[in-house]
Amino acid sequence: MADTTPAARTEQPGGAIHNDVKEYYGKILQKTSDLKSNACVPSAKPIPAYIRKALEDVHPDVTAKYYGCGLVVPECVEGCRLLDLGCGSGRDCYMLSRLVGRSGHITGVDMTEDQLESARKYVEYHMERFGYKKPNVNFVQGFIESLREAGLEEKSYDIVISNCVVNLSPDKASVLREAYHVLKDGGELYFSDVYSNARISESLRANKVLWGECLSGAMWWEDLVRLAEEVGFSTPRLVTASVISIGNEELERLLGEYRFVSATYRLFKLPKCSEKKSCLVMYDGNITGSEEKFEFDAQYTFKVNEVIEVDGDVANTLKNSRFSEEFTFHSQTSGACATKPKVMPVDPFQLTELLGSAGVVPSSGGCCGAQESCCK
Ligand SMILES: C[S@@+](CC[C@H](N)C(=O)[O-])C[C@H]1O[C@@H](n2cnc3c(N)ncnc32)[C@H](O)[C@@H]1O
Repeated sequence: MADTTPAARTEQPGGAIHNDVKEYYGKILQKTSDLKSNACVPSAKPIPAYIRKALEDVHPDVTAKYYGCGLVVPECVEGCRLLDLGCGSGRDCYMLSRLVGRSGHITGVDMTEDQLESARKYVEYHMERFGYKKPNVNFVQGFIESLREAGLEEKSYDIVISNCVVNLSPDKASVLREAYHVLKDGGELYFSDVYSNARISESLRANKVLWGECLSGAMWWEDLVRLAEEVGFSTPRLVTASVISIGNEELERLLGEYRFVSATYRLFKLPKCSEKKSCLVMYDGNITGSEEKFEFDAQYTFKVNEVIEVDGDVANTLKNSRFSEEFTFHSQTSGACATKPKVMPVDPFQLTELLGSAGVVPSSGGCCGAQESCCK
């Protein structure tokens, strides 16, 4: 696949950008407060109690070196095999080690020795705390642009996550392609990252601090949509987004008119020939942490036992992923009374405008909010 955008390959693994990023995360930064901007902002959404509990169990030394920009906890992870791209000191790996349970597994991959050293130091601590006899977490050194060379097997993961890392890669197309290869059929790439409102200029991309701070390597969100399609993923589903206020006058001056958001997308690896027909679905409420409702993305929240009309893309995703067992599917002609959620944007900048400062989509008038009911 030829990739001709500025987000494309500019060097081989182990080149100058990789070395600069390793230096930044291995030597220059020692803790979260050493960051020079607010690019690593907390998630816009409130953290659910079961995730807060899992986070409380992570060793403070690991948390002190957290440089993420979102919450990368997809639903329905129990017993799953996960891979974390650019795991850093391992905060998300340890939180998810708890959530996948003893029958699940999570591998963290990172290219920076110092980060891996911090992560590996606490494996025993966390396994003891969670009561696991055998570790369900391991850390591998490697480049996220060449996962298979790092020894990670094709079609071996249910979910690939990543938190504020893809922006640091000089070759985003390879990262998505490798993630696609290591995912099982029906698998999901669920990741939070920094996105820009336009392609970033070459001169800003050459600035090591702006790159290291997760700003000038950020993808224009439209490039993500295009790359996802080229690689073979489903159209990205936007989960949440929040505006990044840089919080550093000098960096803001350099960045001029560019704007940034932190956004979480979910991309699925689905069968190519599957039918994409809208249908009616009902969520059964069996996913841990989502017993009353399952917030799939910014558009769809599935309340237990409520019939929802989903578009062809989402119908295809629910039927061909780990979520297939969690729903009852009805045909459009089944006569059920269904709710049809409003279409929401893929553009994270548009979503932040819709969400406003309250962090929720305002109701469209009347008492029915953002969703409308329709009887088929
Ligand atoms: C901003 S930090 C985020 C770390 C972690 N996800 C977290 O939330 O704390 C970026 C991490 O990605 C790693 N990284 C960046 N580019 C990478 C690449 N091309 N291959 C492997 N690791 C990479 C860095 O070494 C660093 O640990």
